[in-house]
Formats: sequence, C-alpha cells, structure tokens
Amino acid sequence: MDNNEKIRQLHEYRAQALLGGGLDRVEAQHKRGRLTARERLDLLLDKGSFREIDQFVTHRSTDFGLDSKVYLGDSVVTGWGTIEGRLIYVYSQDFTVFGGSLGEAHAEKICKIMDMAIKNGAPVIGLNDSGGARIQEGVISLGGYADIFLRNTLASGVIPQISAILGPCAGGAVYSPALTDFIFMVRNSSYMFVTGPEVVKTVTHEEISFEDLGGASVHSEISGVCHVAADNEADTLYLIRKLLSYLPQNNMEDPPFMDSGDDPLRMEDALNEIVPADPSKPYDIKSVIRLIVDQGQFYEIQEEFAPNIVIGFARLGGHSVGIVANQPAVFAGVLDIRSSEKAGRFVRFCDAFNLPIVTFVDVPGFMPGREQEHGGIIRSGAKLLFAYCEATVPKLTVITRKAYGGAYDVMSSKHIRGDLNLAWPSAEIAVMGPDGAVNIIFRKELAEANDPVDKKNELVSEYRRKFANPYVAASRGYLDAVIEPRETRPRLINALEMLANKRDQNPPKKHGCIPL
Ligand code: HXC
Repeated sequence: MDNNEKIRQLHEYRAQALLGGGLDRVEAQHKRGRLTARERLDLLLDKGSFREIDQFVTHRSTDFGLDSKVYLGDSVVTGWGTIEGRLIYVYSQDFTVFGGSLGEAHAEKICKIMDMAIKNGAPVIGLNDSGGARIQEGVISLGGYADIFLRNTLASGVIPQISAILGPCAGGAVYSPALTDFIFMVRNSSYMFVTGPEVVKTVTHEEISFEDLGGASVHSEISGVCHVAADNEADTLYLIRKLLSYLPQNNMEDPPFMDSGDDPLRMEDALNEIVPADPSKPYDIKSVIRLIVDQGQFYEIQEEFAPNIVIGFARLGGHSVGIVANQPAVFAGVLDIRSSEKAGRFVRFCDAFNLPIVTFVDVPGFMPGREQEHGGIIRSGAKLLFAYCEATVPKLTVITRKAYGGAYDVMSSKHIRGDLNLAWPSAEIAVMGPDGAVNIIFRKELAEANDPVDKKNELVSEYRRKFANPYVAASRGYLDAVIEPRETRPRLINALEMLANKRDQNPPKKHGCIPL
C-alpha cells in the first residue's frame, strides 16, 4: 500500500465513523424529532472548532453477538472545541449506535475527556441521549458509570460541568448529570428517570407516561432537577453557550469581564416608585433586577422551580455576578424548603467559581406550618444559611423591603460576612412583622382593651414606627448605608470594584459538614 492508498484508507475509516449507526438509524433519529450527536456538536461549538479524539475506539465485547456489531467510535463522540473562542471539552452520545448505551469503551472515552478537562482547567459539556447501561456488557457498564461519577465528583467546584439531556436518560445514567452543575432539558423530547414507566408499572402498578414521569416540565417545575428547559435542541444548545459567557473556565480564574456598554453610573428613577406603599402588596423582583443589571439582561436558572426565590446570572458594569432574590410576587417571597435548597446550591456554585453574589431581600420569614416543619425546613433553611456563611466571594446585599426573623440573618446579612449591606428607605427589619409581633408581646393588653381592634391598630402603628424601617439596623452598623433605590446600580458596581481584590478564607479543614 503506498502512502496515497494509506491516506485514502484513513479517509474511508473516518467516513465510516461519521455514519454512526448507519443512515437508517440517523433517519429514525430525525423522525423522533431529534438531531444526531454530530449535528448537535455543530450547533454547540464555534464553527470548525471541534477536534475529535478516539474516533476509532470500538467495544471489546463478544457476548450476545456484539462481536458482529462494531461501530467506529462506539456510541459517543468526544473531543474539544471552543465556544466564543474559549476552550471546552465535550462528549455527545450517539443514539444511532446501540441507542447511545454506555459500555466499557463509551465510558473510557468520556473519562479521558473529563481527565483532560480537569488537568487543563476547562468546562465539560455532556450531551446525553442514551438508553443507559449497555445491557449486553453487564457489570462492566455499571463500572463505567461509576468511573464517570467519580470524575464528576472530583471535578465539582474545579471546572464547570454542564449536562444537556436531549433524549432518554434512564437508570443510574441520570446520576452523572445529577452530579454536574447545570442540567438542560428539551420540552417534550427529553426524559430523566431512575426507573422507567415499564418498571414503575411492574413495581407499583401505576401507569404513567415518559413525559409525566420524567419530562422537562416535571423536572423544571416539580423536582427541580432541571435548571433550564427549552423548546427545542437548537435553543437548548444556544442557552448553554450563553450560560458559559458568565462563568470562568475553572475555579482558579475570575469570571470573564464583558463591557456591555451600559453606563455604570446609570441612575434608574423607576426604582424609587417600584415598592408599593402598602407592605402587603406584591411587586416583581425581576423588574427590579432588570432595571439594575447591564442592558436589563438576566439569565435565570430554575425559573419554574420554587419561584418564590429567583436565582441567575447577570453583569454589573461588565462584571459577572450571581443574583439571589426573594420574589415578593410569589407567596410573598417566603423562604420554604424548596426555595432554601434552590438558593443554597446556587450560592455554593457562585462561591466555588469566584462569582460575587448580589442578594435582593424582601422576605417575610420562613414558611410556617406542619408540612414545612415535618418536611425538614430546619434542615433546608440551614443549608442556605450554611452556604451564605461559608461563601468568601464578595457578597452584596440590598434590602428592598421586608427582612424579618431568621430570614434576615440568612439572606447575606452583615453578621455572616456581607461585604456591603444596603437598604432602601422602604426596608423593614425586625424579628417579625408588626401584626404577629403585637399579638405576642401585647397579648394581655389586647385581651383587656375596651376596643381591641382600636388598641391593636394603635400598637401596630407604634411597632411599625419603631421597627419597620432600616434605621435601627443602620444605627448599629448592620447596614452600611441606606440609599435611594435609584442609586442601586452605581452603588453595586462601585462595591464590586472596591471588592475586586477581596481575600477571605475559612479555617483549614477537609470540608465542612453542610446539613445535606
Ligand atoms: C443496549 C440498547 C439499550 C441498552 C437501547 N438499545 N437501549 N442497547 N443497551 N440499554 C438499543 C436497542 O436495542 C435498539 O437497537 C436501539 O438502541 C434503539 O432502541 P429502541 O428501543 O429501538 O428506541 P426507542 O423506541 O426510541 O426507545 C429508547 C429507549 C428504550 C426508551 C431508551 O430503548 C429503552 O427503554 N431502553 C432500555 C433502557 C434501560 O432500561 N436501560 C438500562 C437502565 S439501567 P437497534 O439495533 O434496534 O438499533 C442503567 C443502570 C446504570 O442504566 C447504573 C449506573 C449506576
């Protein structure tokens, strides 16, 4: 064979690998309304940037006739490329080969990519579309999953890890995505469950569809497993690109600075009017956030899960920040089990990746009641508290209205190392709201009053005058400043720059014992 023939052979092998499981299966994949592994990579990465490795890796299994079914590259495409010019490592499961199922070779390819990503400090993106463990390879497949789980865990907090679920994701296969930082799903096309509808039927006799058991809506609204859901694959991949623009490549880097052209000194008069005079009236905290951040752009995470707290990324004067905000428009912004866990995890992500945390506070307290107490609100609330306490990134806090009870302490208060704690004049900071407080501390007076309603009104106004304002906290230095709402953007940007070289650390330890 001369050199030309050898090169021709290489091209033949490459063409064969590009075909995956063959044209029929590619067509079947398209008929399911889904893209192939390679089409997805084309959409995700900068044009022409993908460099594939392990294209000729094949499985070594001979059981169940597998020796006659060998596909170059097996059922996953791996390599690296760039997104907006920044390096990322990627794997894309190929459903056209054995349903994207994971056997020994498949797992080894993913592990190689993850090892490189950890060593070289760049994010890993996994595009998942798989029937789970390759049944014919038995326990070797389970071992392969565990090899990946270990790497997911070791990489956690070192490099950002992002999972897109673009088809089925069944069995233990869900646990690799679950160990990563963000899970993206496609509505009506992707599913995640530990046991599928068939097993559910056998074990519990319950009939349930794929969608109702583990579709994107379920995981976005009910379980909170999914962080971002999109209508189609192209949008999903676009949103992953966008998310990365807020994140550093690894935990040793600062997040990217991106001048948006929005004036850092911009005052926003509308903010002065946004909090209703009546403290029981709601308003949308997302409107507040959008008026403050660069170009009104807020990248929300877990939008539909526990919407009484809002989390997401934005830029302030070009600096990437994580935002946590109570949402007075949903259950008055109360902290409950779900919202505490949602925000707690997000705070830890920001802290791990050097993203300053900006917290907007309007919280009436923790949610009372049997359901919450029995469900473990103590444990869940403690997670959020723990997350804020241990975070050493710059922490900026703006109390827009209520900051009552334990929730005042938890929401990035001065006492737990808030770096700059601001309040608007509408802030109310006390142990509890006027109504509840008066009922407790003046129980006797109210019982003995000739006109209890009149007496109560009088006592409530007195309490409100004394405590429902920011000035008691300001007089103690628990607030660094009370500001006009319109000044919020310039004040926050100035603070981020003032804190640019912040160095703070926790006592040396293996790790804390967060109340999981
Ligand atoms: C080997 C598999 C496979 C698997 C699918 N295929 N899943 N091959 N191992 N796990 C193959 C099929 O044989 C078929 O091959 C091709 O992939 C496409 O599958 P279809 O069933 O035709 O596709 P569809 O109707 O779209 O259904 C997709 C599916 C279904 C929902 C994923 O295939 C399915 O239920 N598969 C099994 C899922 C599962 O129970 N996996 C094990 C979970 S346990 P041909 O040659 O016809 O194209 C697990 C443990 C991990 O993962 C534990 C880690 C700790």
